[in-house]
Amino acid sequence: MTSNAGTARSTSSTTKRDFVELSTLTREELYGLLALAARLKSELKHGLEHPYLRGKTLAMVFQKPSLRTRISFETGMAQLGGHAIYLGPSEIGLGEREAVKDVARNLSRWVDVIMIRTFAHATCVNLAREATVPVINGLTDLLHPCQLLADLLTLYERFADLRALKIVFVGDGFNLANSWIEAAELVGFELRLACPAGYEPGPDFLERLNRLPRGVLTHDPADGLKDVDVIYTDAWVSMGQEAQTQARRRDFRGFQISGDLLKHAKDRAIVMHCLPAHRGEEITDEVIDGPNSVVLDQAENRLHAQKALLLWLLKPQTLARSGGSHNIATT
Ligand code: CP
Ligand code: NVA
Repeated sequence: MTSNAGTARSTSSTTKRDFVELSTLTREELYGLLALAARLKSELKHGLEHPYLRGKTLAMVFQKPSLRTRISFETGMAQLGGHAIYLGPSEIGLGEREAVKDVARNLSRWVDVIMIRTFAHATCVNLAREATVPVINGLTDLLHPCQLLADLLTLYERFADLRALKIVFVGDGFNLANSWIEAAELVGFELRLACPAGYEPGPDFLERLNRLPRGVLTHDPADGLKDVDVIYTDAWVSMGQEAQTQARRRDFRGFQISGDLLKHAKDRAIVMHCLPAHRGEEITDEVIDGPNSVVLDQAENRLHAQKALLLWLLKPQTLARSGGSHNIATT
């Protein structure tokens, strides 16, 4: 914490926690978050209100577009009794009109938690270092940990033992692939990465993949899909890579998740995508709209997983473990 911590909005008496990467969680914390998310989801479905964050405010700094991240955070704060403020790419001039450090210190005087979606991961790390309130990574070029929380919740709802799963990520070794490597480290499932040559993760993440007891890199998507339980894909052209569109469409040919490719996986394998999807590029209509697809469950689970995350960050003192489920005091 920096020296002005005492005047910030944070109510925690101990060092604040951020959620910049999945690997800052312990396995127990991850499963605690998933159990809490499942409980919040069930309460919502039964019409039970849970306004645990009454009077709390989330600032959302977006330097890239968003549908799911923005709506799920904003709706989540509203359902928890709090409030969210959207700050779009042209609004605060992060790092241009004002230094990241100054934005972090100002926001910390008004709001209780900050979410940022940006390009360079270092910007998110700097913001977290300078802010005296928790900072959540809502996607950088390196990682997308909020997406993984929702994805792991989607698996947790379907499979009794996540460690027993064989999961393949097909596509670009970019932010989602890196986050899957972090998830595999934490959970212990088998992770295969099927990327075109030249689109593997960077050296650090490749080394982390190689260190996994069951981590595999392949350049052959059919080989990657062999007998898997879960197939995951993402855009061939991520936000910020638009100038490379033509080259990427050429280089990723053969990595499309189609009905034919799906035949290599287990019959009941599920197909996941963080969305937005580029139908006819990384995935066909037939697959994304087909019986194996769980993409809308993933999108819905962004809401429930992030509500659990917000509670964990803002009311850690009220999260008490009790026999595998989580109780939250309302005061
Ligand atoms: N998956 C995801 O983060 O979606 P948005 O880019 O729409 O927020
Ligand atoms: N890899 C994609 C994910 C979008 C949610 C991107 O960064 O644009």
